[in-house]
Amino acid sequence: MGKVRIASKIAHLSYAIRDIVAAAQRVEKGGKKIHWLNIGDPNRFDFRPPQHVLEAIKDALKDGKYTGYAPSQGEPLLREEIAKKEGVSFENVFVTNGLSEGITFLFSALMDAGDNLMMPIPAYPLYVTDSKVVGGVENYYACDKNWIPDVDDMRRKINSKTRAIVVINPNNPTGSVCPKSVLREIGELAAQHDIPLIADEIYDRLVFDGECTNLRDVAPKDAKLISGNGMSKNYFYPGARVGYLALHGEGMEPLAEALTKQTNARLSVNWEMQFGLLAAMRGSMDYLKPNLAKLKKRGGLLHKMLNEVQGISCVKPKAAFYAFAKVELGDKWKDDFAFVHGLLEETGVLCVPGSAFGAKKEEGYMRLVFLPPEEELQEALSLVQKYVLKAQK
Ligand SMILES: Cc1ncc(COP(=O)(O)O)c(C=O)c1O
Repeated sequence: MGKVRIASKIAHLSYAIRDIVAAAQRVEKGGKKIHWLNIGDPNRFDFRPPQHVLEAIKDALKDGKYTGYAPSQGEPLLREEIAKKEGVSFENVFVTNGLSEGITFLFSALMDAGDNLMMPIPAYPLYVTDSKVVGGVENYYACDKNWIPDVDDMRRKINSKTRAIVVINPNNPTGSVCPKSVLREIGELAAQHDIPLIADEIYDRLVFDGECTNLRDVAPKDAKLISGNGMSKNYFYPGARVGYLALHGEGMEPLAEALTKQTNARLSVNWEMQFGLLAAMRGSMDYLKPNLAKLKKRGGLLHKMLNEVQGISCVKPKAAFYAFAKVELGDKWKDDFAFVHGLLEETGVLCVPGSAFGAKKEEGYMRLVFLPPEEELQEALSLVQKYVLKAQK
């Protein structure tokens, strides 16, 4: 008997943030303590969803009323709340199983093989792999040394097969926040070419100083814009798996129709969890202040400790919980994978190779998460420092 045959598109599916966990588990079995700086899950550390969110979910489950299939496009009260916040009509809101599902829906609705969905480099891995799975052609736009999108590069790279432009703000993996003026320019560029913009704003409340500008507030009113957000990051509840897409601008009816079909086909999103997001959106945001203070401090510590070592450099993160650091590989490491795996084997520190986010392997990038409490983070970072210093001897 032969082995089951797998379709070729599956070869494109990889998610290095989780794939690398298998390697860490092997190392852990060998007796080494693992420092988990790979995954953006705040609940592994000292971050929890606000209490009123947990209460709302418990309430929704109390008499079993919300244990059936929810309406496919989302709980109506939640859709109304999102519509109000986003400034769109109820029909233009689609609740999804995390923003991840929304992103996958968009790739399948907007792209045929040979098309491109323009994205930043580096980009969140789901965008990179989803594009490959639907037969998309790579079309990355550059970012400057502070990881701000280069609008001229974007302009140069738009072509007749560009189906949308993705802006991830605040950004994963870099922790950068895009200035209002740049967002305005991007909005104008997309409107001028009549290309939809996808604004992934899943970290928009996690900015350490000042505020994040949402693309909907600066893009021309007629621009085609898809905003994506959810419960995972701003409300520290990734396990809830609730996200949404909101469609702005003119001429979006075909996409609303496609998303209606897609959400119908997948049946529904956990009903009780949707009441959690409703409570989160309606409730107090007081929980954010102490959590942002922790994140800012930890991000600052990571930035300082990495830049102390000659051979590592990293831009100070302004939001979220990630930094994208560059290592001078020299002749010590062949590529980012060799660096990250060597670091793991020798020190137990787990981070993610930059090439998982579309960077070139030889550039030597890695993404680190700064969610652990300071003492833990400090311990992990001093191991990174020692590892690099030892290699330089
Ligand atoms: C930029 C970005 N977009 C989307 C997602 C997916 O979020 P969700 O948990 O809502 O599926 C993530 C998760 O890490 C992310 O970093």
